[in-house]
Amino acid sequence: MILTILESKFFNMAKSKKGPRFIVSSFLFIAFLCTIASINEIRFDHLLTFSKCALSLDNSTLPIHSSDDEIRVLIGILTLPDQYHRRHFLRLVYGTQSVSRGRVDVKFVFCNITKEDQKVLLALEIMRYDDIIILNCTENMNRGKTYTFFSSLPDMLKDEPDGSGSAGSYPPYHYVMKGDDDAYFRLDNLVESLRPLPREDLYYGYTIPCENMDPYGHYMAGMGYLISWDTVEWLRNSDIPKKHLEGPEDKVFGDWMKDGRRGKNRHNAKWSMYNYPDPPTKCTHELWPNTVAVHLLKTQEKWIQTLKYFNVTQDLKPSKLYHIP
Ligand SMILES: *[C@@H]1O[C@H](CO)[C@@H](O)[C@H](O)[C@H]1NC(C)=O
Ligand SMILES: *[C@@H]1O[C@H](CO)[C@@H](O)[C@H](O)[C@H]1NC(C)=O
Ligand SMILES: *[C@@H]1O[C@H](CO)[C@@H](O)[C@H](O)[C@H]1NC(C)=O
Ligand SMILES: *[C@@H]1O[C@H](CO)[C@@H](O)[C@H](O)[C@H]1NC(C)=O
Repeated sequence: MILTILESKFFNMAKSKKGPRFIVSSFLFIAFLCTIASINEIRFDHLLTFSKCALSLDNSTLPIHSSDDEIRVLIGILTLPDQYHRRHFLRLVYGTQSVSRGRVDVKFVFCNITKEDQKVLLALEIMRYDDIIILNCTENMNRGKTYTFFSSLPDMLKDEPDGSGSAGSYPPYHYVMKGDDDAYFRLDNLVESLRPLPREDLYYGYTIPCENMDPYGHYMAGMGYLISWDTVEWLRNSDIPKKHLEGPEDKVFGDWMKDGRRGKNRHNAKWSMYNYPDPPTKCTHELWPNTVAVHLLKTQEKWIQTLKYFNVTQDLKPSKLYHIP
């Protein structure tokens, strides 16, 4: 548009006034304008190419929603294949929690299934929820299920396209936690408690015995303990755990850490982790806001009291379809 107007103006001027000089200068001016236009075009093209580059880079190499402060945590809840109701309940409890900065995947972990009905029911559960890990082991209490869990993860997660960890990112999780199915985890508090802590060689949990506040003492209680991904890989590769698999799992775990001189960084999460206040012991604490885990929720009543305390239903949206007093 502008070009045409200028062109005609100059052309008219050239025609009306002293011919040749004006024609030459107007041609020069048009050439000048064309050059500017083509330079701009090149720039525009480059912009397009740059934005294409940025998009493809985004797509192939960076996990979605990732930022430097995103912490990825896997909680493996060790349970048994037949605990259908417990899993259903825990899915309610964790599926309604949100994590503001970070990602927590809660998965249920057990050994080989053994019954015909499990093949159908568990396959359906996986199709619906995709939150189950079946290890290659025979169910056991004190013969290395915890070891199998941690040490299987690097291979299990290596080629997972998505769903576990973030697509293609390393490490798939910054931290892996082993949890009990009678413990209640406050996922956002857990992630926030991890934020200031190292991402290497970390061993985090509730120090045993109950009155002990020194995380370098012995080991972390089975209600829930967490290690950084480098330690998961160490467990997979080291001979130390392989030689010493039998015994109370969490205590044996502490022995491996000691023998392997692992867990240079330790965090005692007491009293953000504790046993349910009733009946009171040296290991209990009142329910309080600064909670990462409440353990020994052995009855429905204790679960209900705990969930009520944390106001877990406060975001229920009003509707004509139901009325909950
Ligand atoms: C992103 O990756 C997916 C799957 O690899 C592909 O289908 C899609 O076209 C890619 N999008 C862009 C913008 O490159
Ligand atoms: C599972 O473990 C058994 C023995 O413990 C072994 O023979 C088998 O190869 C393992 N299977 C897989 C898929 O790793
Ligand atoms: C678990 O099941 C797999 C496949 O069904 C089998 O190869 C493996 O030997 C079993 N492992 C154990 C320890 O029973
Ligand atoms: C639950 O809600 C009550 C009432 O709003 C509030 O006083 C209390 O602090 C909340 N509890 C927690 C743990 O946030």
